[in-house]
Amino acid sequence: MNIASSPLHLMNLLGSVANVKTFARSLTSSLMQEKTFCPQHYDVDPNTGCFPPEPLPQLPRPFSFWENALAEVQGVLYLGNDESDEALDKREAGENWRAQVRSWPVIETTVLHENIRYLQKAHMVLAFIMHFYVHSTPPTEDNSPIHIPRAICVPLVAVSQALGTAPVLTFADTVLWNWTVINPELPLSADNIRYVTLLSGTDAERAFYEVSGIVELKGVEMLQIIESFMLLPNTTDYASVAKISRDLSQLKKIVEELTDIFLSIRDAVDPKAFHWQCRPWWSGAPAPSSSQPEWIFEGVPKSATVDVSGPSAGQSTVMHALDVFLDIDHRLAQKRQPAPSESNKKADTGFMERMRRYMPRLHREYLARIGDVPQSVREVANATPTLREPYNAAVAALKRLRDVHIRIVTLYVVTMSHSAPPTDIKRKIQEEGIARGTGGNEASSLLKAGRDATTRAMLKD
Ligand code: HEM
Repeated sequence: MNIASSPLHLMNLLGSVANVKTFARSLTSSLMQEKTFCPQHYDVDPNTGCFPPEPLPQLPRPFSFWENALAEVQGVLYLGNDESDEALDKREAGENWRAQVRSWPVIETTVLHENIRYLQKAHMVLAFIMHFYVHSTPPTEDNSPIHIPRAICVPLVAVSQALGTAPVLTFADTVLWNWTVINPELPLSADNIRYVTLLSGTDAERAFYEVSGIVELKGVEMLQIIESFMLLPNTTDYASVAKISRDLSQLKKIVEELTDIFLSIRDAVDPKAFHWQCRPWWSGAPAPSSSQPEWIFEGVPKSATVDVSGPSAGQSTVMHALDVFLDIDHRLAQKRQPAPSESNKKADTGFMERMRRYMPRLHREYLARIGDVPQSVREVANATPTLREPYNAAVAALKRLRDVHIRIVTLYVVTMSHSAPPTDIKRKIQEEGIARGTGGNEASSLLKAGRDATTRAMLKD
């Protein structure tokens, strides 16, 4: 047996002091010889899914000033265009914090590359610091670019490249890596998780991370179903067909529970706080055509900062895994019915693929691996009449989840983008808009195209 295919060996490699390069090499050779599918190869845990099995460790001593600087900012930094009395009172403290960041040395990160958990922690800490730095900077009259100090950019790009992810705040930073357990005696669960770093400091932001985290934890059950499909000796004998049928029915129930979790957002997250206080902090670098100040990443080549559009739950590996398993064709590459509408064709059909670049490389490889099966469950269901109904029912449940998500986005993004700021928010609005990500109407046509691509996966008689 290739030692890299032993789960215990892999967990040791991942959890303790694993050299990531050695890990990648042994991973490649083990994948070529992989006989049984092992999620830990891809840093996917059987119990916690895309979450690390335990909270991330503190960084080693030479890097603790990053963590200390991040711990200091809560309540000190306000959005740069916030003109409320509290924000103006803190302007000087904010400028001092940013000056301190500018004075930092640029430090080598090689020692962190030996442990994937250190890399993840460093990415999370630096990306949060970068978003604090940029968005707390007051705008200038001439809209001058924001220079992000090299003490942030150089190590952030280095750890991003080692992890194979984008050098900006991602879904993994905000939801997968940004937590601790409330009770250390108990394992991670929906009731035993506390989010640590918040940009806006609002209840809305915390609740958004919590609901996204609950989706991820529930999603572990979907991953187990997907993985067991991959391990079936065949997809034609009676026992296998019966198992696939049961699993598809179970998948439908899980997707229905996810839909309820999505709906719970309306009670947990205040739309105004979400739009006016949270979203501006999450924005990534503006598109070149935008009127927002440009971000200049000091000390790193431009080619290293292509993917900098900021976090989106569209980067959730678990949600992508569901699409891969059910063979949802977001790219409109397959000939399926009903034919795409004009609006579907105009929508950004490359969005989901682009979002994968914001996942860590191992999670992206996990998605590629689960899609690499001799026959997809859709093809198996197409060839097996008794599986059509449970397959279609699972797809219909996902279509309903996307309908609910669209309603949520309409409330939180589309409606709010036409709303006036609450009276307690005094903000110099330049031309509010979400940089590089998607604004209101663009988001709805994108999400409707995804919903219609889901409908199109249904098998016809
Ligand atoms: C207040 C709640 C939410 C809002 C306002 C919201 C907003 C959006 C928007 C605007 C997009 C379009 C792409 C972008 O701009 O990033 C999007 C995509 C997406 N969101 Fe959400 N979202 C919310 C909650 C969630 C949750 C809890 C999840 C679960 C992980 C999620 C999963 C996704 C996925 C997978 C996509 C990609 C498109 C698709 O699969 O249909 N969203 N979301």
